Amino acid sequence: MRLTTRAPWRRALVAWGGAAALGLSLALPAAEDAPAVGLPFEEQVQVCGACHGSDGNSQQAGTPSLAGQPELTIVNQMIYFRERLRQNEVMTPQARGLPDGEIQALAAYYHEQPVATPEGDPDPELKALGQELAAQQRCASCHQSDYRGREQMPRLAGQREDYLVAAMIAYRDRTRGGPDTTMIDVMRGVPDEDIEAMAHYLTYLHAEE
Ligand code: HEC
Ligand code: HEC
Repeated sequence: MRLTTRAPWRRALVAWGGAAALGLSLALPAAEDAPAVGLPFEEQVQVCGACHGSDGNSQQAGTPSLAGQPELTIVNQMIYFRERLRQNEVMTPQARGLPDGEIQALAAYYHEQPVATPEGDPDPELKALGQELAAQQRCASCHQSDYRGREQMPRLAGQREDYLVAAMIAYRDRTRGGPDTTMIDVMRGVPDEDIEAMAHYLTYLHAEE
């Protein structure tokens, strides 16, 4: 399947046959493949870690932490990026051509990583408001009472605040693609102030006050 989705010249090369031609095409990843494709697992973790943090706790603005995410969440989102159902100019090229098995192994690894305590201190008032709003909207009914997520529903607890805000705005404004439209319905018409409060609450959920 992987070979048939490649550029025409590659298909021609494979069709032309011969073990040498096939070997060559497998040894040289197509130019459009993600940097991690085909690397040993430890090196893949370094590639992803340059943005997501070596232990999956992101220190980079706009880049989500992967630590503690449900495996299915990571697998799904990677496949959405790979198939260009979810578009992001930074992340989409990182998923291009990554085979299912490699995605699965990375998802299992990140799922096992402990979630780091977020930097900074929560604002108790904003956190309390966020808690109230999240309770009203029953966010926990899907994301679990401690917001660790489950299956295709991402972990929210301890996630970067800037990323949570951006993700919720993207659902509300319908700029985040993907086949799962659950969150578009949830976020419809939710004002920025409410989004900011909920993001603050979720980031600092398990932090000391
Ligand atoms: C150059 C930086 C960069 C690299 C390298 C990178 N990512 Fe990302 N990744 C991002 C950014 C930025 C986003 C957020 C995209 C968005 O806002 O839609 C993201 C999003 C994701 C998401 C979605 C998480 C969620 O909560 O929805 C997953 C899963 C992911 N990356 C996994 C990986 C894996 C696995 C690798 C290595 C193969 C990797 N990334 C490499 C920058 C990077
Ligand atoms: C009916 C179930 C359901 C409810 C209720 C729900 N969510 Fe979600 N949420 C999901 C699913 C499923 C996804 C993944 C969707 C996708 O693939 O884009 C998600 C994704 C998210 C994301 C993106 C996280 C990431 O890592 O990219 C955020 C943020 C989020 N939800 C916040 C909330 C908040 C805040 C509420 C309450 C206002 C809420 N959700 C209510 C099911 C739900």
